Order: sequence, then structure tokens, then C-alpha cells
Amino acid sequence: MTSRLLFLMLLLSGLFSPQVHSAPDGRKLYNQYCSVCHNDQGIGGIGLPLNSSKVQYFPRDYLFKTIRLGREGRIMPAFEKLSDAQINAIVDHVLSWKKTSSTVTFNPVSVSGDAAVGKKQFIEHCADCHGEDGKSEGVGTGVSISRTRKFEVVPPALNNPGFLASASDAWIKHTIVEGRPDTSMPSQRELEISDAQVNNIVSYIRSFETDYNQKEVAELEPPTLTFESPYDFVTTVSNLKQSLQGLNYRYFPDRYMEMGLIDDNRVNKKQLSLRFCNFKQLYNMINTEPRLGVVLPCRVTVVEQDDGQVIIYAMNMKMVSRLFNNDQLSHTAEAMNEALIELIDEATL
Ligand code: HEC
Ligand code: HEC
Repeated sequence: MTSRLLFLMLLLSGLFSPQVHSAPDGRKLYNQYCSVCHNDQGIGGIGLPLNSSKVQYFPRDYLFKTIRLGREGRIMPAFEKLSDAQINAIVDHVLSWKKTSSTVTFNPVSVSGDAAVGKKQFIEHCADCHGEDGKSEGVGTGVSISRTRKFEVVPPALNNPGFLASASDAWIKHTIVEGRPDTSMPSQRELEISDAQVNNIVSYIRSFETDYNQKEVAELEPPTLTFESPYDFVTTVSNLKQSLQGLNYRYFPDRYMEMGLIDDNRVNKKQLSLRFCNFKQLYNMINTEPRLGVVLPCRVTVVEQDDGQVIIYAMNMKMVSRLFNNDQLSHTAEAMNEALIELIDEATL
């Protein structure tokens, strides 16, 4: 876990300053940007397998767009800063895992089906794994995060804007017709569904495009939670510590905000960080999103303003989960926010 975490941190820093090479080396770029989640041989990890039999059919365009656009909310980042040449080199590297050099071309024409009928068929045949709304069932992504999981390969989200913008109708149709042979995803033949049914299902998947955009309009969360304490600084801090103990948090030594930044005797003693954690919650979070290691442990900060009012600040974990591009964190983030609010309520009662 530790080395994966380190890799992910390195990766994050790399995302914002990619090197531009004149002749991009696809293997090197893949190892730099992708292998941490998809494994250096493409067998998958936090990400889906890439080297399985499906690689034989991956359309270049689908791979290119998937890398450029990422999968917002599903951990896979958008590689906005890579040049087209760099992405093409990575695509070549992924396609080098094909068993034969034959290529399949897909019909660019949209599939026409009945989305309303398709919805019923999707719920019957696909929703067990992909959820009724295409959001994917089961916790996590990819193949290898250590926790109880329902699937060996976690079904990807089909309502994801990155997926929908990358996949043509014909590619989605091909995926349903063939299934994903090395995984639990069945083929059209196994499901015994007709061609017309497949078309309806493709149309239903396409209809997720508008649903998602509506969801995006939802308001953004503020980055911090702010509470006014009715008590003075010393009482507020001591109340918080008592609540922490009562709620069974592991608690770390006090830290004044300015400690280490200026001379110890000039440090403002009216700005204190209380650091604590609930190991189970932390464990859940880090399992869902290893990069969270960067912002933990949890803390609340108590500050006395010039007018004497004492303010408690806490990180809004819901906003953090958004920042980390992972919808599945929302649930744990919600629980963490609730726990924080309980803690602060108790201390400021
Ligand atoms: C931080 C982890 C992470 C990184 C880095 C990452 N991916 Fe992904 N990738 C994922 C996840 C997770 C999914 C599946 C999303 C889902 O579950 O909805 C995915 C999905 C994909 C898919 C779709 C696979 C399919 O079967 O259609 C492709 C292709 C892909 N990634 C390629 C890449 C490439 C190439 C890179 C490097 C440029 C890369 N990814 C970097 C996590 C990552
Ligand atoms: C038993 C579970 C299961 C069922 C049922 C299932 N899928 Fe899947 N599906 C998966 C898994 C797992 C993957 C990813 C496999 C891989 O690429 O490694 C997947 C991948 C996909 C993909 C590719 C998405 C991407 O990001 O590459 C599409 C499209 C898809 N499924 C559509 C469907 C449709 C439509 C149905 C119903 C007709 C269906 N699936 C039924 C498990 C399932």
C-alpha cells in the first residue's frame, strides 16, 4: 500500500508538468502515467485490465479519447496536458498487447433503438452489475483493491461522461455482442438477447448523457465547514478534546498553526490544530482512494479572531471527495462530515 501511495503521489505531481519529447516513447509514458493503476503489463489494478482479449478490438479513437477525457468521478484522471503525439504513443503501446495485427473497423453510424424499451432490458440483463442508472454496482474500481468486493473485475460506470464521450455506438454495441470474455461480463449469445434488444440497450446507455449533465448542475460544496463557538478559546479547545475522547478518536499532540514557521515564542497561541483520527473511517477512505493519504489525518482548527469570537474550521470531506475524482468516496465522506459535526456540536453545546 505504501509504495502504491507514493506512486500515486508522484503521478499526481507529474500530471501537472508533463515533459514534452520530440519522439514520445509510448512504453515510458505508459509506465509513467498509467501503470500505477493498470499495471505495467496491463493486467489491471485500481484500473481495468487493458491487455485482455478486448485489446484486439479497442478502437484507437476510443483509447485516445479515454486518455484525454479520463473518467471523472471514477478515479481515472483526464490527461489534459499530454500532447496528441504523446497520447498516440501511449495508444500504440496499449495496442502492442494485441495477439495479432489485424484491425477491426467500426461503423460510424449511430445505432437506432428505443431507449425506453432498452431501459427495461438493461434493468433485466445488465443492472445487476452496472446498476439501473449505469452507475456501476459494487465498491471500488478495477481488479485489485484489498477489501471485500462483489466482483473480481468491478464493472465500469456506463453513465460516465468520459466513457460516453469516448465510446461510439458501434463500440458499445460490439462490447455487448462480444461481452468481455475474461470477465463476468456476458455476451449477447450468453444472454440470449436479439439484435433489436441490443440496439435498444445501446440507445438507453446513450440517454445517460443528458442525465449526467443535469446532475453536474448541482451546487458545489464549500471547501471548509465553519462553526462559531459560544465559548472562549481555552474552553472550546478543552471541550473538543473531551468530545474526541468520548467519541473514541485516537488523538495526536496539539499543534499551533504557526509552529515551525516562526520562532516558537512568537507563535500565535490562539490558533490551534487538533489532529485526530478514526482508523476505521480512514481505512475505508484510503481503500477507496489511496491518494487521500496526502490530506489526512483529520483535523479541526480552532482560531480566536481579533474580536474574541472563537471559530472552528473543519475540512469539508464532501468537497475533498469531489477534488479526488471519486464518487464512491462520497458515502464515506458524508459519514466523516457527520462525525465531525457531531464532535463539534458536542463541544459547542
Ligand atoms: C489513478 C488510476 C488510473 C490511472 C492513472 C489511469 N487509469 Fe485508466 N482507468 C482507471 C479506472 C479506475 C478505470 C475504470 C473506470 C470505471 O470503473 O468506471 C479506467 C479505465 C480505463 C480504460 C477503459 C478500459 C475499457 O475496458 O474500456 C482505458 C482504455 C484506460 N483506463 C487507459 C488508461 C491509460 C492509457 C492511462 C495512462 C495514460 C490510464 N488509463 C491511467 C484508473 C486509472
Ligand atoms: C455479471 C456482471 C456483468 C453483467 C451482467 C454485464 N456486465 Fe458489462 N461489464 C462487466 C465488467 C466486469 C466489465 C469490465 C470488464 C473489463 O473490461 O475488464 C464490463 C464492461 C462493460 C462495458 C465497457 C465499459 C468500458 O468502460 O469499457 C459496457 C459498454 C458494458 N459492460 C455494457 C453492459 C451491458 C449493456 C450489459 C447488459 C446487456 C452488461 N454490460 C452486463 C460486468 C457485467
